[in-house]
Amino acid sequence: MFKVTGLCKQFVVGVGVHQVLSNLSFSIDSAKITAIVGPSGAGKSTLLSILCGLESPESGVINYLGRSLGDMKAEELAKLRNKEFGFIFQTPFYLPYKTVLENVLLAGSYAEESMDNLKAYASDLLVTVGLSEHMHKSPALLSGGEQQRMAFARAMLLKPNVIFADEPTASLDEENSTNLLTLLSEQVKLGRSVVLVSHDKEAIQWADTILEVGPKGKSINEL
Ligand SMILES: Nc1ncnc2c1ncn2[C@@H]1O[C@H](COP(=O)(O)OP(=O)(O)OP(=O)(O)O)[C@@H](O)[C@H]1O
Ligand SMILES: [Mg+2]
Repeated sequence: MFKVTGLCKQFVVGVGVHQVLSNLSFSIDSAKITAIVGPSGAGKSTLLSILCGLESPESGVINYLGRSLGDMKAEELAKLRNKEFGFIFQTPFYLPYKTVLENVLLAGSYAEESMDNLKAYASDLLVTVGLSEHMHKSPALLSGGEQQRMAFARAMLLKPNVIFADEPTASLDEENSTNLLTLLSEQVKLGRSVVLVSHDKEAIQWADTILEVGPKGKSINEL
């Protein structure tokens, strides 16, 4: 699904250049959970941002289903991200003055479907993740685990092909981690793909493939 060749990424910091990823080549298969692991600062989050087209590399080719992200216009890339990719972050983000349901619907304005259909689908998603009773509350009133399940529902709204998750279980206890990982693995059974950055040993056990980024992003290998 992803085929990456010769990926290099650097950040300019002050007058210096910080090389973060050096000449990485790897592939990610579809309909699998792929975990990206490695030491802190190895560049895992940066790699995830590049895969989903939020950051661009200095050099290298990122092919997604045969299309090179680098060749796409900004609009085309934004459309691809909205239509095909879903995101879950380490710390759940939300708009506290909107309800849980409204937060799940945040990306709805990018959809081609009618708002009524989307609302019905968002409600179904919230029932699936066990938040039906909390739909009309502010997310600020939810526990961390509940907020992460809301984030999952939001990521699923536009039926993405790939779900990117950066340390999604980092702030969760074991039970809530298992809940979230179960939701993700059910999506994989439906043919979706999950790309997961994690330090969490339990999360890694759910992965079909583990890619380890070496210190300072100088290598990447399948474990
Ligand atoms: N926008 C930025 N500007 C400058 N340097 C950055 C930027 N983003 C990341 N870095 C640097 O790139 C390196 C890799 O960062 P990244 O967040 O990708 O690591 P990571 O593997 O996700 O680490 P962690 O496990 O701690 O989350 C770090 O040294 C970081 O300081
Ligand atoms: Mg990170």
